[in-house]
Amino acid sequence: MTDNILIAPSILAADFARLGEEARAVEAAGADWLHLDVMDGHFVPNITFGPDVVKALRPLVKIPFDVHLMIAPADPFLEGFREAGADWISVHPESGPHLNRTLKRIRQLGAKAGVVFNPSTSPAVIEWMMDEIDLILVMSINPGFGGQSFMDSQLAKIERLRGMIDGGGYDIVLEVDGGVNPQTARRCIDAGATALVAGSAVFKGGADAYAGNIRALRGG
Ligand code: DX5
Ligand code: ZN
Repeated sequence: MTDNILIAPSILAADFARLGEEARAVEAAGADWLHLDVMDGHFVPNITFGPDVVKALRPLVKIPFDVHLMIAPADPFLEGFREAGADWISVHPESGPHLNRTLKRIRQLGAKAGVVFNPSTSPAVIEWMMDEIDLILVMSINPGFGGQSFMDSQLAKIERLRGMIDGGGYDIVLEVDGGVNPQTARRCIDAGATALVAGSAVFKGGADAYAGNIRALRGG
């Protein structure tokens, strides 16, 4: 059982007609963060929600909001998401021309800054800015949809990023997103992950099952 691993249920797999209840249910079930997937139908082939939904959910739970922006450009919306209550804001390097500037802006707004790696994105993209980052999110699927299968190829990337973090003594959360279930969770943790996003593996079986689902991700 790995109690120190942060579990961030992805609201993408919740019942969208009952988002507030679902957020409360996973908080009560032991979730550490709430992961909010923002998609624009342009950067990824799906559309979800914007800052207004984040704002509506914010007063309902206390756990930090981990906002994953799959939008391009992201810069014009950073302030709106921060004002809506985002604690962690993560962007894909491919969504804008100046990743460093975007990360600085997120921190200026008072949020924690995250970089998201698509399966094809190389760890090298953050080599010269490790001290500007609070969170690294490794996608183990192509972003856009829940319920996809975990890509084993990303485990080596998680190991590489763990080495970069520990090598420089950085205080950075290493999170994995996509196809995380009790089996793949174990492998991510062994590779060096300290936080796990899970949509379908948490929001299955109805609210009574959520606590058990979260416990299973921690290893029992
Ligand atoms: C997909 C999102 C994920 C998604 C994961 O682009 O970033 O957070 O909700 O869903 P599962 O856990 O079902 O793979
Ligand atoms: Zn996500």
